[in-house]
Amino acid sequence: VNIPSDSKTHDADDHHGPARASGGGEGTIRLLHERASLRDFTDEPITEETMGRLLTAGTHSATGGNLQPYSIIVIRDAERRRKMSEWCEQSFMAKAPVHLLFCLDLRRLERWAELEGAPFTARASLQHFWIGFQDTIICAQSICTAADAIGMGSVYIGTVIDFVGPTRELFSLPRGVMPVVLLCLGYPRVVPKPRKKLEQAVVAHEEVYRDLPDDELLAAFEAKYEGVRVEATEERLKTLGDVCRETGGEALAARALETVRRRGHINAAQRLFGLHYRADQAEREKKPLLEAIEEAGFRWFR
Ligand SMILES: Cc1cc2nc3c(=O)[nH]c(=O)nc-3n(C[C@H](O)[C@H](O)[C@H](O)COP(=O)(O)O)c2cc1C
Repeated sequence: VNIPSDSKTHDADDHHGPARASGGGEGTIRLLHERASLRDFTDEPITEETMGRLLTAGTHSATGGNLQPYSIIVIRDAERRRKMSEWCEQSFMAKAPVHLLFCLDLRRLERWAELEGAPFTARASLQHFWIGFQDTIICAQSICTAADAIGMGSVYIGTVIDFVGPTRELFSLPRGVMPVVLLCLGYPRVVPKPRKKLEQAVVAHEEVYRDLPDDELLAAFEAKYEGVRVEATEERLKTLGDVCRETGGEALAARALETVRRRGHINAAQRLFGLHYRADQAEREKKPLLEAIEEAGFRWFR
């Protein structure tokens, strides 16, 4: 194997790993344990220097084959941020001084291959989608963590996938570049509190997968969503009933409404999948997204 002339080899003496030996580990662990999404930003701008440091944290992330099949659009323009906020119907977004639009980008690699006389079919490859999507998010998450580490904060905005066409137009994204997620970035007006999560023992399995017994599973979610009791208004009951009927038939609708009657409220699972991330919309939402992906030049799911 040829070692490229610009790559250095490390021996045990000259490489101790970043921050590993410097006692910074505890701080990093605490940072990760205490992080939370930020939706309340001050007006403080982000300097070019800080932005550069954050973006470099992103580009140093792990990426399949070291291909880096992503691009990040740095959005400072107030009008563009306002537009994204309006489309996503999330008003707090406009206050964040910077939006970062993370895109899966196979165009740059395709142009490189073309210029170098190399073959390239990644825009039709499910494997390249699978890995490239992960690469894009891992890069984004490194930037989130770097931002948290210097007293900033961020929140992901997933709803951009409902506006792929207009978003591609607003940021002049060519074919081969697909928006994945947006990140609002800035300084906290109030530092957000960590949210409850499922415990480590619930999500981690020793050696092999183990289904939790029903009562343990219910207790785990009850601990996470403790206190979520949605008032059973006529309108919500109708929506819940309709969604259950469409996805699971009359029997599910009857069971859902009977559960609500017995408990006197709509529970967390019913709120999440019956009212918020509505189970009946899965099929309706699929078609426009698949079309937007094809319009952006990808045949991953054909
Ligand atoms: C892929 C993805 C999409 C998200 N989309 C939104 C969004 O559109 N709006 C929003 O306010 N939060 C969004 N979030 C943030 C989540 O709501 C948040 O991470 C979750 O409630 C857990 O809270 P925490 O981040 O404070 O732990 C998103 C997070 C992820 C990872």
